[in-house]
Amino acid sequence: MKPRKIIIDTDPGVDDAMAIAFAVAHPGLDLLGLTTVFGNVAVQLATSNALKLLDNFNASSVPVAAGASRPLVQDPLPHPDFVHGQDGLGNIDLPDSERQQLEMEAAHYIVDSANRFPGEITLIAVGPLTNVAAALALDPELPGKLDQLVIMGGALDEPGNVSPLAEANFLGDPHAADRVLAVDWPAVVVGLDVTHKIMLYDSDLKQLSDKAGAVGEVLWRASRFYVNYYSSTGAASELPEPGCAMHDAAALAYVLEPELFELVHGATRVVTEGIAIGQMTMNRKGYTYLLPHWQDLPATGCCVSVDAERVKSLFLDTLIAAA
Ligand code: BDR
Ligand code: CA
Repeated sequence: MKPRKIIIDTDPGVDDAMAIAFAVAHPGLDLLGLTTVFGNVAVQLATSNALKLLDNFNASSVPVAAGASRPLVQDPLPHPDFVHGQDGLGNIDLPDSERQQLEMEAAHYIVDSANRFPGEITLIAVGPLTNVAAALALDPELPGKLDQLVIMGGALDEPGNVSPLAEANFLGDPHAADRVLAVDWPAVVVGLDVTHKIMLYDSDLKQLSDKAGAVGEVLWRASRFYVNYYSSTGAASELPEPGCAMHDAAALAYVLEPELFELVHGATRVVTEGIAIGQMTMNRKGYTYLLPHWQDLPATGCCVSVDAERVKSLFLDTLIAAA
């Protein structure tokens, strides 16, 4: 089968680095390009991280287009350097790339690529959805030109990771997330309901360092800071050994093997103000409510359960086989 054309919109980020390595390694995926967005780090750093990760993953022909430096409406939130490190990659001092980003900015790159390969591209968004909302504003026909939009973000039944209700990518730009989910694309959300169930333990990450060559070594080193962060949180006491959630790579696993995930569907909104800001809310029963906010909106799919062991094997086996 022809590899699936993908663009990853990303804010690297340790788990973003894992997703990028996965995309490069899997023969079923054709990584056309990366677009970058603020989030785990400022957009300039996200862009230089994207370039240097591609170089380290032997994918220096893949272009990078830089995107939004701030959310559409709200003031930017602080970057979580206590999660991903000052450099966003666990403070491992990867050398800078000698390559430059494209002159074309991220939203234009997404629209331009969709026009070049109509109906063929899967856009995988694993940061705040600002670039995706900007691409949609540039070309309202974009949803019809993509094969699929797969989003890592949000939480339905699982508690949030940046507030009791909100997940980091959706809180990063709740207005963008709400705009994107209001549109009729073939969109699927891979949120905390599943990514918190796919834990990469140190014994898994060690396999990468032992068997996945230089790429595995970079991911092992980058993951040290990230795993330490997880170990410092209350959730650590529930884990059998130190580890971290897979997050962004799970969106790629959905693209590759959607049958490993179970979904619910419904009109979906993201709260843009107040104590619940960033919360994803779905009308999954299709009720007609007193409040009109979920009325006449397309249904979005949201993953609610997952075969975590098989997703993890898919990720580890892919990286080991490619080494
Ligand atoms: C998401 O937020 C970021 O910190 C991660 O890279 C991931 O995309 C998880 O909530
Ligand atoms: Ca991310």
